[in-house]
Amino acid sequence: MSSYMIYKVDQVSDQPTVTEASNLIDRIYKSDAFEVGKYHLNKEAIFYIDPLDLNDLMKTYVVLSGKLMDLKTKEIFGVGDLILVERAESLISLFTLEKTILLIHAHGPSSMARFEVNNKRLTDLLTDLQTKDHYTKEHSDRVFALVKKMALKLGYHSQALYDINKAARFHDVGKIYIDNQILNKPAHLTADEYEAIKKHATLGESLILSTFSDDVFKIIAQHHERINGSGYPLGLTGESICEAAKILAICDCYDAMTSDRVYSSGKTHEEAILELDMCAGTLYEPRLVEVFKDMFLESKR
Ligand SMILES: [Fe+2]
Repeated sequence: MSSYMIYKVDQVSDQPTVTEASNLIDRIYKSDAFEVGKYHLNKEAIFYIDPLDLNDLMKTYVVLSGKLMDLKTKEIFGVGDLILVERAESLISLFTLEKTILLIHAHGPSSMARFEVNNKRLTDLLTDLQTKDHYTKEHSDRVFALVKKMALKLGYHSQALYDINKAARFHDVGKIYIDNQILNKPAHLTADEYEAIKKHATLGESLILSTFSDDVFKIIAQHHERINGSGYPLGLTGESICEAAKILAICDCYDAMTSDRVYSSGKTHEEAILELDMCAGTLYEPRLVEVFKDMFLESKR
């Protein structure tokens, strides 16, 4: 009796799944005992390994092409390297330095399914936002890119990086519950309408908690708080606002200032930076405004 099986890869491979960052999962083989698949990751993508995925199973990742780095340990993995994960105490965050293909081999039932379910939830949420309001979706994408860059520059990794990135992507998800007429009003808002809009910071609570965690919700709920207490919904000040929310606030305001709206055209990059500078110490954390400005100077160099 033969002791091996041969799989014709083309016949068992599912359609690749497009993930949130337009990375691809290409499942090669799946049974109750183990799964084999390929992750196709873009350059500068963040790939997380979730400890919750590792209950009673072991995963190996072989780098087929490209290069990636563990953001916590700074260890670099290149072609042929094998990453074997038996146990993880917290989320592992890997950053692709080049376009990368990982071959994943996981022992255990449906180990890739969790990744796919989470991914589907995220994609559905993003689609809801897009349907509701094009501006919010595009704004959220741009804010996500700025926050991701700033968080990496500040050395965020693991769970903290995951949380701030998800908060950035979904910071305005509460707008799903706001009346379209108010949301898209091409004129200035009345006081009552403004009060209604302000509710978006916390309206997405159950949606966020069902997909993410308290920590992600906390960042979202505080993204309109300002360090001098003039923000909303609670009027928190200084240190009572978490750093991640302060980072999100700067990136959010920069993008809002530089975007064209129905009733006004956006400021230039220089004008927006000047305004952030003027409000550093009152609305925004000065140290973080400096980091934000450095980010643009670096990309010009
Ligand atoms: Fe907002």
